[in-house]
Amino acid sequence: MTYSIADAEQELKVKRGALNLRWYPHYHLAARAGWMNDPNGLVWFDGWYHAFYQHHPYSTQWGPMHWGHARSQDLVHWEHLPVAIAPEGPEDKDGCFSGSAVVDGDTLALIYTGHKFHGDAGNEDNLYQVQCLATSRDGIHFERQGIVVDTPPGVHHFRDPKVWREGDSWYMIVGARLGETGQVRLYRSADLRQWQDEGVLDEAEAGMGFMWECPDFFPLNGRRVLMFSPQGMNADGFKNRNLFQSGYLVGDWQPGQPFVRAGEFAEMDHGHDFYAPQSFATPDGRRIVIGWLDMWESPLPEQQDGWAGMLSLPRELSLSHDNRLQMRPAKEVESLRQVWFPWPVNTLKNQQISVAENAGAMEVVLNWNCAESTAEQYGISLGDGLRVYVDAQQQRLVLERYYPQHALCGTRSVPLSSDRDLSVRLFIDSSSVEVFVNNGEACLSSRIYPDAGNRELRLFAWSGSASLIDGGAWQLE
Ligand code: FRU
Repeated sequence: MTYSIADAEQELKVKRGALNLRWYPHYHLAARAGWMNDPNGLVWFDGWYHAFYQHHPYSTQWGPMHWGHARSQDLVHWEHLPVAIAPEGPEDKDGCFSGSAVVDGDTLALIYTGHKFHGDAGNEDNLYQVQCLATSRDGIHFERQGIVVDTPPGVHHFRDPKVWREGDSWYMIVGARLGETGQVRLYRSADLRQWQDEGVLDEAEAGMGFMWECPDFFPLNGRRVLMFSPQGMNADGFKNRNLFQSGYLVGDWQPGQPFVRAGEFAEMDHGHDFYAPQSFATPDGRRIVIGWLDMWESPLPEQQDGWAGMLSLPRELSLSHDNRLQMRPAKEVESLRQVWFPWPVNTLKNQQISVAENAGAMEVVLNWNCAESTAEQYGISLGDGLRVYVDAQQQRLVLERYYPQHALCGTRSVPLSSDRDLSVRLFIDSSSVEVFVNNGEACLSSRIYPDAGNRELRLFAWSGSASLIDGGAWQLE
């Protein structure tokens, strides 16, 4: 099959009309129809935020990747634009894989991975991944400029270029797999076209994964953060529970110098569904990250509805004094707030109470006094499928989802300290929840699939009492 943007657009128009919207997000970005995975090319250009994404317009399954495209003035209201690039080949004939965008004077440049097999696609020895360039003046129509970095000898998995400007140079990092070792490779250029190999920026030690996907590298609070999505890390107690992880290393770096780590790999989000995050800088200097709110090989029930996959809320990053990455919803998210419903509840004693009959798009705010709470479990539930609660015996905040009809059941959790108040902000959309804990300390994001009529919100406290300092919800636009 040959692919073109015109065919993709035609396909999307037809498919869009046939969607079942029961789980389609109200205020998160999802594809018009078909499949979506990683966010790509997040950038501010010509007065707009642009978000591109891995996209298969022809099906709700992953397939030959195109770059979907949307733009926004405020990071929450998105306008769909035509597909930006299609796997027209030959350098990307089997897919336009993930990558990034930079502004070069009056030009928007996309740097992405051309994915191609030379021969039988069933044999990984035939796989070649190369870094390609496409440019645009209007931010909508892109001209393909071909390969700018070829596959290094002995490597097959070599993808997800992230480009940035520093001093007089452009830099690019690319995720790679050398044997069983995940790596990040560094390149430098004066013009985005000729790239010089600068060696390996960092690589996995034992247990840190066989492939590092979607690397990103940026300054934050005077340090340098290497963010990436390793494949092949083993679960370890409450850590690394998902098939693949997304996380970071904090360290220091200067052009021409090695990257020196100042700590261990840590996960960014502790829910079931957060992968391949990418960051970008806003014009006012904030570092924002958006991730894919899904996980590889996890059931995606919305596939029966004609679409699959969505992106997370934009999250502002900061670094704590002990070098931990903190994420808070970008301030623009507050512009979605409409009506505030306070919940006049002080104490719950071995009971549950209904606080909203049908939670659609909502931001829930809860502040618990943990020191004064004796309940073994207390928190909030959405229908029969989701609970976000304190497990006082384990001293953890737990996100539990229970959708046996979709084969999606299980918990994720983060540790808590019992003597401190606990603040939680939950962002509920049609089929997602993002939980921000203690103003950036931790985050848990998961997909949820409530049936219609099964979206009642209840506060509960079992085996004891729970003390709520304040609570309520914003109805979101
Ligand atoms: C991460 C990823 C990338 C790749 C893309 C393909 O989710 O596997 O490494 O470029 O998805 O769609």
